[in-house]
Amino acid sequence: MLLSIESSCDDSSVAITKIDTKEVVFHKKISQEIEHSVYGGVVPELAARLHAKALPDILAQAKEFFPYLKAVAVTNEPGLSVTLVEGVVMAKALSSSLNIPLIPINHLKGHIYSLFIEKDEDFPLLVLLVSGGHTQFLHVKSSFDIELIASTLDDSFGESFDKVAKMMGLGYPGGAKIEALAKNGDENRFNFTIPLRNYSDIAFSYSGLKNQVRLCIEELGELTYQDTCDIAASFQRVAIAHIIWMLKRLLKKRNFSKFAVVGGASANLTLRNELQNIFSNVLIAPLQFCSDNAVMIGRAALSEYEAGNFCSISDIRVNPKTSF
Ligand code: KG4
Ligand code: ZN
Repeated sequence: MLLSIESSCDDSSVAITKIDTKEVVFHKKISQEIEHSVYGGVVPELAARLHAKALPDILAQAKEFFPYLKAVAVTNEPGLSVTLVEGVVMAKALSSSLNIPLIPINHLKGHIYSLFIEKDEDFPLLVLLVSGGHTQFLHVKSSFDIELIASTLDDSFGESFDKVAKMMGLGYPGGAKIEALAKNGDENRFNFTIPLRNYSDIAFSYSGLKNQVRLCIEELGELTYQDTCDIAASFQRVAIAHIIWMLKRLLKKRNFSKFAVVGGASANLTLRNELQNIFSNVLIAPLQFCSDNAVMIGRAALSEYEAGNFCSISDIRVNPKTSF
């Protein structure tokens, strides 16, 4: 069995996966949404302190599996440096005390592998990764050959939902809240412009849209419930239209036979529906594995384990900014 740890942002999660069958035999996740909600976003130092308490608590519940462990995997990049360190320190301690190899895992690769939990991997694949930290098109040719096609110039898709929610006093995280309010709103009431329509390349940008929403809120003054719903719906329409516009631009230039959407914001049903209008068969992870979790980290680690990609305790590094 392989034990995996995820602590790149505000979720403390541990999973145990059987190496030969990919069966998940243990999974626990403690989210910190309530603690960060009052601040309208993740406070790194607070998140680190909460991981330092939650990870040992979860590991204590997994003790019965320790005699069967053959490796320990941990997210070491990208993410918040102080929270990544908490998971990495825990993994180092387990690797040393149980005398098992250590496997560092890129969090974004973990999101890609959320598609293949208890399933064989199926590449090549065009992947749209939409999370709180990233908005990317990736051409995943194999586990070890991933091409970054496009990324965001500023804010990410999920982050823009969080910021719009914060502006309207809805708390953190904002994605699901904005999506729920948008259902009761008029998506055409506010005519926000789609970002980067005249940009020559394929890329994403959400800071301009966020500012359009900010100006709109300032102009309205005190918001009624209907104003909040209409802003949520109009913002969500344009945030998604931006992705669809860039996806169509990419497909005019290149061919891909398979398409997937991953990351916390892939839970958004309006986004999923719009993507399904372009690719009839969009690969999507089970809902519980769209947001950050250790199961996807464990699944990504299985291919590293097979390839013998281990790292010594003294060599593992935390890389907050790494991408592909
Ligand atoms: O992948 P994830 O759990 O953490 C990161 O790696 O960042 O993604 C969390 C992000 C948050 O920004 C959250 O607001 C967003 O995903 N999100 C959504 C939805 N559910 C979560 N964004 C839009 N619509 C949703 N339904
Ligand atoms: Zn994530």
